[in-house]
Amino acid sequence: MTTIFSGIKPTGHLTLGNYLGAVSRWVSTDQHRADALFSVVDLHALTVEHDPARVRRLSRGTATLLLAAGLDPDVCTLFVQSHVDEHARLSYLLECVATDGELRRMIQYREKSARARETGEGVRFSLLSYPALMAADILAYRTDEVPVGEDQRQHVELTRDLAVRFNQRYGQTFTVPRAVAPRVAARVMDLQDSTAKMGKSHADGAGIIYLLDELDTVRKKIMRAVTDSGRDVVHDRAARPGVANLLDILSACGGGDDPVALAASYDSYGALKRDTADAVIEVLRPLQKRHAALAADPAEVDRVLRAGAERARSLARPVVDAAYAAIGLLPAA
Ligand code: AMP
Ligand code: TRP
Repeated sequence: MTTIFSGIKPTGHLTLGNYLGAVSRWVSTDQHRADALFSVVDLHALTVEHDPARVRRLSRGTATLLLAAGLDPDVCTLFVQSHVDEHARLSYLLECVATDGELRRMIQYREKSARARETGEGVRFSLLSYPALMAADILAYRTDEVPVGEDQRQHVELTRDLAVRFNQRYGQTFTVPRAVAPRVAARVMDLQDSTAKMGKSHADGAGIIYLLDELDTVRKKIMRAVTDSGRDVVHDRAARPGVANLLDILSACGGGDDPVALAASYDSYGALKRDTADAVIEVLRPLQKRHAALAADPAEVDRVLRAGAERARSLARPVVDAAYAAIGLLPAA
């Protein structure tokens, strides 16, 4: 059976970008067609300046939203990364396989370290080693597929390189995984800045739709989205990124399979925005309703997370033990 693993950081409230780029597929297909594991990767939230209470709150909050979005603990495994020691255990071995040069080449490291330097924050060492931990997340389960948005492709490529290198040097241990990005909306852009991805770690902004935004606010944000100069509606990501983004969102929210063809049915930006707002709201409404019910019962969410961690541990343990043995460490017993 295919194994799927994906993760999401508790660094902010989930956005429409997270949903369309990753979560909606976990819910609609991935969890039903494979042995699927989804993790709130809290250790990854410590790589940049963080507030401990906020990370704790967001970890449960993110899990609650994933359940509200439709992850079903009866068919998939949902857990918090730090509850399963195997991730950190394996991460160190992969740091011993990765090189300083390949970690420094990661686009996300370059961008985030530049930002941290600008603000005088200091760049945490864990920001550099982050991809080794992400590779551990994936390889500990002998994962075949990693459903992520486009921004994570480079990290999954590095994971593949590390798996192949480990297997060649120390014997066949890991499955070599591959990234799968959605066809549409693999990179949802900020509604106010079509050059930036809609990211949950950014400062609260008019261009970001949060899954728990009031529905009126959602409509306002979409109606005020920056569109491009020109009036006709065409799907051209280079010349008309704002309009292309709206068409992608509309398509991914059930407006039609092909965002390029969709453009032909609109002759004004106003109508496109109205339909996009309607489609997004129809996706968010039921999700928010389920969220309200789940948020009222945090003990149930904790129970799901405990059971998820137990199952994850039982899968990861033998794989990580095998890696420890292969790399030359003396077994404890
Ligand atoms: P993160 O918010 O970085 O923890 O990302 C969690 C998942 O959401 C990853 O699979 C990302 O690739 C995906 N994702 C985050 N932001 C976007 C976006 N703006 N468009 C598409 N996918 C995204
Ligand atoms: N790095 C991913 C992100 O920023 C989150 C993540 C951590 C992840 N470990 C993972 C995604 C393993 C997929 C598989 O979005």
